[in-house]
Amino acid sequence: MKRLVIAGVTGSIGSQALEILHGHEEIEIVGVAAGSNGAGLLEAMAQTGASAGALNLQGDIDLDGFDIEVGDDAAARLIREVQPDLVLNAVVGFAGLAVTQAALESGADLALANKESLVAGGNLVMDLAARQGLAITPVDSEHAALAQLLSGVEANDVERLVLTASGGPFRGRTAEELASVTVSEALAHPTWNMGGKISIDSATLMNKGLELIEAHHLFAVPYDQLGVVVHPESLVHAVIELVDGMQLAHLGVADMRAPIAWAVDGGNRRRLDIPRLDLASAGSLTFEEPDIKAFPALAIAIEAGRAGGGAPAVLNAANEVAVEAFLSGGIPFTRIPEVVALTLDVLGSEVPESFEELTALDTSARSQARSFIEAAA
Ligand SMILES: NC(=O)c1ccc[n+]([C@@H]2O[C@H](COP(=O)([O-])OP(=O)(O)OC[C@H]3O[C@@H](n4cnc5c(N)ncnc54)[C@H](OP(=O)(O)O)[C@@H]3O)[C@@H](O)[C@H]2O)c1
Repeated sequence: MKRLVIAGVTGSIGSQALEILHGHEEIEIVGVAAGSNGAGLLEAMAQTGASAGALNLQGDIDLDGFDIEVGDDAAARLIREVQPDLVLNAVVGFAGLAVTQAALESGADLALANKESLVAGGNLVMDLAARQGLAITPVDSEHAALAQLLSGVEANDVERLVLTASGGPFRGRTAEELASVTVSEALAHPTWNMGGKISIDSATLMNKGLELIEAHHLFAVPYDQLGVVVHPESLVHAVIELVDGMQLAHLGVADMRAPIAWAVDGGNRRRLDIPRLDLASAGSLTFEEPDIKAFPALAIAIEAGRAGGGAPAVLNAANEVAVEAFLSGGIPFTRIPEVVALTLDVLGSEVPESFEELTALDTSARSQARSFIEAAA
């Protein structure tokens, strides 16, 4: 039996993980963690039989006598205490870095949905995994697809990795049209049903920029060999281009349960009861270039990725602050990439050498991004 901790169990990825892990004969869920949703956490503990839980809440909380860690980084403390074999990190945002670090330092393999920990701390995280001899298996559908495609070819035969992007709910709109879009329009993703933050990242195309940085670290591929193509049907998840001019594509319905199952099973397949792709019913598959003019976040993210050092961490922190401000009605949609670019101008050349310095840079970037937002209010 593999002992698993799920961090972010109450979210979109976490709840789909519970669904596909139900009745799994080789995985025992020994711990679950969430942010502030105590009721959801208790439900997950009751459903899975996990004896340890964690909430990122302060103070005394009535938790019906369950054994629950509370306070800052409670999920990371739970992992260090429980010492699982595997952690599914489905926390959203930079808060997931502490989970990634705790998992790797405790000797657990990682099924990683939390892309922000790789974007912000890519070098530190990959070095730590290598030193510990542990695997990071991606949950993100494009990266799971790339890992599956790459496992079937010689590394020297690969020229380029291409991630597909749905284009989000605003594909085809001009920058002027984007200035007045609402929060509910931005949250209404056309092909994927996801948490709020990633839905907004998909609408700005920042998500694809974060994913390019994630791919750069996961597959040790330079940015010149990474590309993005917009594919609104979301049926092709990724493509690899080979030295003989041929390309291999990964296809399937847009259903996160497949990559979650593949990643928690350590990159192995098992039968899943999810809809099958019928190519004849799908009819046509369409592809187009991303519109960098209307969606500058993608270009800003690529530039931060290429700059390296602390730039991706600053990008990530400023983006989280700007997305929160947009979701709470504080800034218009088109202000999100502007806040990110302004924050990168100030702090993008910092180079954190440790997890502590990375956290300090994240804090400074958040405060800088907030001051840009307040100055314009
Ligand atoms: N959803 C998708 O289809 C999808 C696809 C690919 C990649 N991802 C990535 O997967 C991650 C999760 O996305 P999601 O859509 O599942 O997000 P979500 O629905 O917003 O769920 C986020 C989860 O993180 C928990 N959380 C938040 N802050 C926390 C903290 N400080 N400590 C512990 N737990 C905390 C939340 O708990 P509460 O409920 O208590 O707030 C919730 O369980 C993101 O990095 C995203 O980019 C998601």
